[in-house]
Amino acid sequence: MKKILAKKRETTMKTIFLLSGEHTDIAKAEVEALFGRTKSISERVLIHDIAKPIAKAKTKMSFTQLAYTKSVSQVLFKTTAKNLIKKINSYPWNKVYKKNFCVRINNISQKPVPKEFEMADLIWKKLKNPVTQLTGPETLIQFIFVNNEVYCGKTIFINEEQFHKRQPHMRPEFSPISLNPKLARAMVNLTGIKDKKDVLIDPFCGTAGILLEASIMGFRSIGYDIDENCLRKAKTNLEHFGIKNFSLKMLDSTKKWPDKAKYIVADLPYGKSAKLSDEKTKLYREFLENLKRMKIKRAVISFPTSYDYIPLIKKSKLKVKNQFDYYIHKSMTKKILVLSA
Ligand SMILES: C[S@@+](CC[C@H](N)C(=O)[O-])C[C@H]1O[C@@H](n2cnc3c(N)ncnc32)[C@H](O)[C@@H]1O
Repeated sequence: MKKILAKKRETTMKTIFLLSGEHTDIAKAEVEALFGRTKSISERVLIHDIAKPIAKAKTKMSFTQLAYTKSVSQVLFKTTAKNLIKKINSYPWNKVYKKNFCVRINNISQKPVPKEFEMADLIWKKLKNPVTQLTGPETLIQFIFVNNEVYCGKTIFINEEQFHKRQPHMRPEFSPISLNPKLARAMVNLTGIKDKKDVLIDPFCGTAGILLEASIMGFRSIGYDIDENCLRKAKTNLEHFGIKNFSLKMLDSTKKWPDKAKYIVADLPYGKSAKLSDEKTKLYREFLENLKRMKIKRAVISFPTSYDYIPLIKKSKLKVKNQFDYYIHKSMTKKILVLSA
């Protein structure tokens, strides 16, 4: 019995995802698309049981895909704010500690909490050979205060992705309608793509905002666009960021595609006026029919919310797995749909 319990403990690792706080519904769905179901402790804190041996190396790699997650930690213990000091004093810190350490506090409880140096001091006193390292420590201990509880975790991933460097105005070929890189990345993740051998297609690629994120994450990306000038700009942008694993094709995405499509992400073309033309409806309809015909696994598509896409989705017989509203500015919100064939 003891052996079975020990084995169970060994194969399950409770993991805490601390979200950045932006678009928390998309952030949670992004984590779940890559790692499976989570339990929400608060809007910004998710708990997940990750099966350790199968996924350990691969999982760590996939953490780097995340857009709206701030950090990921392995839960060491959970306690109440009242019992925290007692718990810290009885915890076997020497088993967790490697080389040097630092303590960080994330307080989302809106209550006063102890200072980082006070907590670090308690742990210091328990360690055999303590060394403090404030930047890039080998052992980062995080205390997350949420509601009336405190989660203590050893951090295994911190999101240091420099999205600001890829904002549309930072690219050599600027397009005012290109998506924010964090959203583009989250949309790629919402497809659930993880295997680096898989390919991601953006059939309306424009200046390559989505392809850029997919390629940086390590996936081969394919972009289609009807406009030669857009494709030229896409190539310039991708090459500017040192991307090599892409291909761009000039074609009409409502017609037959030359590539096998499993994972699709697209920001659909939209008109300037709120009322979209019949021509756009025809384009959307034919595109959706294409997705159904190709038996795609997941497509993440953004529609302008001013457009009534429901009849078209119903007609296409694609299944809606999830949906989100993404506010851009006062006259533009996008509807993001996660679809399967
Ligand atoms: C909203 S923009 C995409 C923006 C893109 N995500 C970016 O980062 O720049 C839509 C793109 O769809 C292209 N497009 C319009 N109709 C098309 C069609 N039938 N087939 C392929 N591309 C088309 C347009 O040329 C435009 O570049």
